[in-house]
Amino acid sequence: MNRDKHIRKSSLIVAAAALGFGITWAVGGGCSNGGTSATSNAQKGTGDCPPNTGTQVAGRDGGTTTVTLPAGASLITDGQQTFRFDTFGDEVFWGDTIKLHQAIEGAANGGVGPGVSPAAALQLGLKVDVDALPPAIVDGLKAGTVDLNDPATTLALLRLNAVVGVTGIFDGTDASPSPTSGPMKSMGIQCALCHSTVDDSFAAGIGHRRDGWANRDLNVGAIIAAAPDLSVVANLLGVDQATVRTVLNAWGPGKFDAELLLDGKGFRPDGKTAATLIPPAFGLAGINLHTWTGWGSVPYWNAFVAVLEMHGVGSFFDPRLDDATKFPVAAKNHFGHVVVDEAHDRVTPKLPGLHLYQMALTAPTPAAGSFDTAAADRGDKLFASKAKCVTCHVEPLTTEPGWNMHTPAEVGVDDFQANRAPDNRYRTSPLHGLFTHTKGGFYHDGRFATLLDVVNHYDTLMSLGLSEQEKSDVVEYLKSL
Ligand code: HEC
Ligand code: HEC
Repeated sequence: MNRDKHIRKSSLIVAAAALGFGITWAVGGGCSNGGTSATSNAQKGTGDCPPNTGTQVAGRDGGTTTVTLPAGASLITDGQQTFRFDTFGDEVFWGDTIKLHQAIEGAANGGVGPGVSPAAALQLGLKVDVDALPPAIVDGLKAGTVDLNDPATTLALLRLNAVVGVTGIFDGTDASPSPTSGPMKSMGIQCALCHSTVDDSFAAGIGHRRDGWANRDLNVGAIIAAAPDLSVVANLLGVDQATVRTVLNAWGPGKFDAELLLDGKGFRPDGKTAATLIPPAFGLAGINLHTWTGWGSVPYWNAFVAVLEMHGVGSFFDPRLDDATKFPVAAKNHFGHVVVDEAHDRVTPKLPGLHLYQMALTAPTPAAGSFDTAAADRGDKLFASKAKCVTCHVEPLTTEPGWNMHTPAEVGVDDFQANRAPDNRYRTSPLHGLFTHTKGGFYHDGRFATLLDVVNHYDTLMSLGLSEQEKSDVVEYLKSL
């Protein structure tokens, strides 16, 4: 494991050096940067931090290493801004079209229905960035004088830009880029909505941002289903709005269906939701194909998501979506040929920074004591020998360098999800930082509830003959990654 970490460290230094950035590794334990620090993967521990000399971009959860970049490394910090705050103009969809902001406001505040109180928002898995809260609100929260059951408080949090991954757009006349006073007139979403959590340092769901962590609490389907006008989605899919809501409400926490608007499949043949788990967006450097089913590279998928899923304003190309048998909805609507002229394209210019930022987000390391070290060392050896894991999860990447794809039969699962993607295969999942997304289960649909279930599956599939002790050692190793 030490060798593994060493290689990961040096390769990031080399990569950054090649990009022309100065880079230093600040080594120290347990320092948590609060305030307005740009630290991602905020650390669990508290303690006094040395002053920041540059902009901290990527952190490590175990409190061991931090990348510190000089102020000039603007592309990565631009990417962090994009990841956290850029809607790519998608308010045209989330607010103006499906009017989700009205459901958040509630009738009492000019919208519709009961509205979404902070308590309800936290229940839906939304997270609050404590660093965006002024001291008066923090004190109010501590004293219990802030009403968490009033949707007006949610609007106040949105004005402060404190709801992770959601931007409220208000009708005021104050500052650019978006007014924060006046009534709410629209809203947009960001990458951070699904791919960030907080460290719960203040309270459950309220804390410092952890960029790249999969939000397995977030009930995306229930949130979208609350939008008052889903006619545009219903028309695309050729069904009524009630059917769209049935599909969305079946997703459950931690899941989203990136293929629904391509093939219109809401459910699998076994009747379960067709949605997949939200994966982390850290630890992706060096990996060729991304998503559960290997749609493409990180910049490919970023453009795909920003344009086709978030409905941002930008160009996107993929003639594979012209396959009318596989992607009837996408083919009919020419989703593989979205052209926006340069003056209005709000996605394409952001792709370089967004790409580099994701490359800089290393997987966090598990806290000491969260696994049995001796057992993990034995599991490390088994992983590379008797258990045959490295035949696919090649170390230190933990996925294949090169073409990292497998047929459903090779991993012993059905082909439903694989067949919803161009290559009809599953991508070998990278395994670093597994401890951050144990909620919701494992594999693309969470079919294995625990890591031991995963290991048992391989033991049967590949006739490994692992003893119970060996299985548990492999599990401890997985927890240590
Ligand atoms: C509504 C939730 C949601 C939002 C918003 C979202 N994603 Fe994702 N993301 C997912 C899901 C679900 C997947 C898995 C999709 C699949 O495999 O079909 C995914 C997959 C990914 C992957 C592949 C990870 C891997 O293991 O290879 C990357 C990278 C990624 N998203 C980046 C982004 C970026 C960048 C943005 C913003 C432009 C973004 N996502 C916005 C839900 C979301
Ligand atoms: C034939 C190639 C192959 C072998 C061998 C293999 N894996 Fe996998 N592994 C995959 C693929 C492909 C996936 C993704 C499956 C999916 O998306 O449903 C995966 C997924 C996983 C996951 C789930 C990750 C997540 O984020 O949910 C774990 C854990 C895992 N493998 C551990 C192991 C262990 C431990 C071994 C050895 C006992 C092993 N794998 C052997 C290809 C392989």
